Amino acid sequence: MTYHVECFLRRSSLNSFLLPAVLGLSIGLTTPIDTKPATQSPVAADMQSKDTAPDTHDISGRWVGKKSSPMGEMEIVYQLHVQDGKITGTQTLPFGDSPIVDGQIAGDSLHFTVELESFGSIQKREVSGKIVDDTLVLTPAMPGPPPGVGRGGPEPGMSPPGSPTSGPPAPGPSGEPGTGPPPFRMGPVTFRRGTPTPSFRAPSVDYSKLPRIALPTLHDIPSNGLAKTPPMGWNSWNKFQTHIDDATVRSIADAIVSSGMKDAGYRYIIIDDGWQGSRNTDGALSPNPNFPDMKALVDYVHSQGLMIGIYSSPGPRTCGGFEGSYGHERQDAKIFADWRMDYLKYDWCSASRIWKDTDMQAAYQEMGDALEKTGRPIVYALCQYGRAGVERWGAKVGANLWRTTMDIRDRYDSMASIGFSQSELASFAGPGHWNDPDMLEIGNGGMSADEYRTHFSLWAMISAPLIAGNDIRNMNPGISAILLNKEVIAIDQDPLGTGGKRVSSTGDIEIWWKALASGDNAVAIFNHSNQEMRAIVSWDTLGIGKDYAVRDLWAHADRGTTSKVFSQPLPAHGVIVLRLHQLK
Ligand code: GLA
Repeated sequence: MTYHVECFLRRSSLNSFLLPAVLGLSIGLTTPIDTKPATQSPVAADMQSKDTAPDTHDISGRWVGKKSSPMGEMEIVYQLHVQDGKITGTQTLPFGDSPIVDGQIAGDSLHFTVELESFGSIQKREVSGKIVDDTLVLTPAMPGPPPGVGRGGPEPGMSPPGSPTSGPPAPGPSGEPGTGPPPFRMGPVTFRRGTPTPSFRAPSVDYSKLPRIALPTLHDIPSNGLAKTPPMGWNSWNKFQTHIDDATVRSIADAIVSSGMKDAGYRYIIIDDGWQGSRNTDGALSPNPNFPDMKALVDYVHSQGLMIGIYSSPGPRTCGGFEGSYGHERQDAKIFADWRMDYLKYDWCSASRIWKDTDMQAAYQEMGDALEKTGRPIVYALCQYGRAGVERWGAKVGANLWRTTMDIRDRYDSMASIGFSQSELASFAGPGHWNDPDMLEIGNGGMSADEYRTHFSLWAMISAPLIAGNDIRNMNPGISAILLNKEVIAIDQDPLGTGGKRVSSTGDIEIWWKALASGDNAVAIFNHSNQEMRAIVSWDTLGIGKDYAVRDLWAHADRGTTSKVFSQPLPAHGVIVLRLHQLK
């Protein structure tokens, strides 16, 4: 069915839009376990094995449970310590450790509280269970959406930090491809004494005993002069999560060049969480054996005419449970600079177990100072999910970009709830400092081609970093046509660097507008509905004169001038992006 919708471009109605309800249905926990070689396993190293059946008084030791999820098998581990009927210990999910507090055991029943972390919020969750023969049957505690934090959420379908954001497309309600992973709820899991799958994750931290580092007094760090336009590149997380290694990074660098992405502007190859090994006695951090020679890898990426980035956290652990930079900020910055890294993504996660949101600016300044001190130009990317009004202080700590939302997932509702929430942040974007609504999911399989075009267009309209997150070695032509659309990339990379804004919202149609350096205007018309619509734009009612040439940046076609009403079909969840050029 085709609907007829009148769209008006009204610059006076910037804030009149209410976000559409695009919330998912349930917690989407879809995390595969790490399957790394058995070397360097702190988890295995302190494993305590017991072959005897538990009695009701001693369930101390390590318990391993597996749960299948839509994304594969997930491993959950409990390290329990029982004394005088009280239980303490750690719950380990594939995305990090959480302390167990206030636990009790009575007869064959046990009950304890887990302190989880979710996008910077600490959440207490209760776990109850029973001893059944020689097993424990427990329903593990999972983080939920944090209360009212960040944009783009909370949505019930979100993933906790550190968990995968993409996966095989699941059929939609009517069997059409690609509305993301199906809902998944954690139920009871049977745990047995055993050995967890080895990984390079760092050992658990007892946060109550951790020495507190002093935070610096606030001061403004001068701009590093980088990222005059929004950074473009590729990041390992959305596709590979922690399954990333030297060979994959090299082959991605090759593909960036051979696919034409380098020529289109994609320059930074960013290694996200999962590269870390352990620290030596001097505190120097090494990569894990999946990255046998980081300097050689960096040299290889540079030799392709590309730049390379890395990931860490101001906390002791990253979101994936790997070694963070807490207390080693200067040392790590120097190591990153010695490796000749060009970009650092710095992700809050476990820092929320130590500091409050009001400490965030100082904690991020600590690394900003450390990077500046290295003397190496390093793009500084903050990742703290848009908390604490980061758009107001990000640039002061030397940041070139800051995440404004929780994690994106490869489904339309997640992408739309994030992307369409960014209008109010437009004034904070500018050359050298950008709002970052998270990385691209284009090509990961969870959205339709029209939805991916909407994703790319919206990110371009708001001057967001364009960081691809798919396996660019195996892109089909439809996906590369999206990522390589140079006319849309030019909107993102426009040197004026203003953030685009919503200027009209009528039913399921909204219009965004962005001023460009040449005096041209970019106009994007979005269709939220899952039906095709017809967009009709009456330019004269919009304050746009009759003397602009209209170019359609997805059709790569000229559409006459603004002397005529614009009228085109607009696909479900689709977009039309126009560039208006004033004729002399
Ligand atoms: C958080 C971040 C993601 C990714 C993971 C890595 O969830 O928001 O972008 O870096 O951590 O663990």
